[in-house]
Amino acid sequence: MGSLAGRRIVLGITGGVAAYKAVEVCRRLVDAGAYVAPVMTKGALRFVGRATFDALASEPVQTSLFDEEYPIPHTRLGQGADLVIVCPATARVLSDYRTGRSADLLTATLLATRAPVIVAPAMHTEMWEQAAVAENVAVLADRGVNIVGPVAGRLAGGDSGEGRLAEPVEIVAAAHEVLGVATGSDGGDLAGKRVVVTAGGTREPICPVRFLGNRSSGRQGHALAAEAAARGAVVDCVTTHPDSAPIGSGIRVTSVDTAAEMAEAVAGLSVEADVILMAAAVADFRPIEVANQKIKKEGGVPEIRLEPTVDILATLGRDRLPGQVLVGFAAETDDLRQNAKAKLQSKGVDLIVANDVSVPGVGFGHETNAVVLLDSVGGAVEVPLTDKREVARVVVDAVVNRLRTNRSLNGDDK
Ligand SMILES: Cc1cc2nc3c(=O)[nH]c(=O)nc-3n(C[C@H](O)[C@H](O)[C@H](O)COP(=O)(O)O)c2cc1C
Repeated sequence: MGSLAGRRIVLGITGGVAAYKAVEVCRRLVDAGAYVAPVMTKGALRFVGRATFDALASEPVQTSLFDEEYPIPHTRLGQGADLVIVCPATARVLSDYRTGRSADLLTATLLATRAPVIVAPAMHTEMWEQAAVAENVAVLADRGVNIVGPVAGRLAGGDSGEGRLAEPVEIVAAAHEVLGVATGSDGGDLAGKRVVVTAGGTREPICPVRFLGNRSSGRQGHALAAEAAARGAVVDCVTTHPDSAPIGSGIRVTSVDTAAEMAEAVAGLSVEADVILMAAAVADFRPIEVANQKIKKEGGVPEIRLEPTVDILATLGRDRLPGQVLVGFAAETDDLRQNAKAKLQSKGVDLIVANDVSVPGVGFGHETNAVVLLDSVGGAVEVPLTDKREVARVVVDAVVNRLRTNRSLNGDDK
């Protein structure tokens, strides 16, 4: 049984670019067992096709007060709902909802319900910061409407700032919270599992000011941590970017800086882990000597001698517990598959997630990624350029499959 089994949710979709993300919200709600009735505004239909929601939701999309199969569609939807979610919520719908203007099927449904409501606004920063919009949101929040997001990040048209739709997984988590249901209490496919994720790039000090580092932002690791937690796991996220790590009841964040600190943290956590996702970019070398004071220009060009850092992945591969799933990550700039395959074999891991970071938009510092997943039994899955959260979903799917295989190999698949 899904965690949202038996819950009727009206999913209102309005006309913003983020409407495509409502597709994932819909899928996740249905996967969790909810009965989802989609309502699209005229604006929404300009951005995404109704056929997608017709196919994914529990009943066909409704768009109008007058032309639907049901004579009074808004009361049928509003009275029958356990929860209404508006995702994304445009400035227009926030305004009409605030003033009680029944302008279309969605706003009429919002007026015809006593169920709790979640709105997930999304718009450009200038719109979001308008006094009128801010006031509408404040009034709605004051009336008990649950406002989820927006967050800061990339927006349509190459802009960035506050106004980006909250991640679908956060919106679905909010639905669980509002309905008083624990995420993954359905035995989400990682329920009861302990997952360790490493994220970010390590920094190896040269002196108190400078370090050897890399361009990793931690985003892919953080997306993996959020995805695993959303699917019921208890997650330890060991990261060099704790400020941007996901927050949630199932996630514990450990802040580290160097490869040695990461190795120590992971060693402590790995003995209880069912899954280890080594997404961090760990330095291979570190300075042998670290100067006590800032190295000055006047002293001439310094000679920095390096030594290897501890190979965390190889150590984990060597000391692996029975049934534990170990996933390595490989950032390459050439011969992607060949290098990834070599790493898969030499480190003794179950899966390698490899990306070519020389391709624009891929990996380090970007919100998007394109990867190839290789497994130790010869399987390969390509994930073309997409959101890092989507990459995380595919990786976690592969991990879940691997957990099942490992369990049957160990003879405890009852
Ligand atoms: C390309 C494009 C993107 C838009 N994105 C947004 C948006 O993210 N948020 C928003 O509030 N309005 C956005 N708008 C404006 C709405 O589409 C417009 O206000 C529309 O009337 C909203 O319709 P609805 O609220 O009935 O769905 C956008 C318009 C265009 C043309």
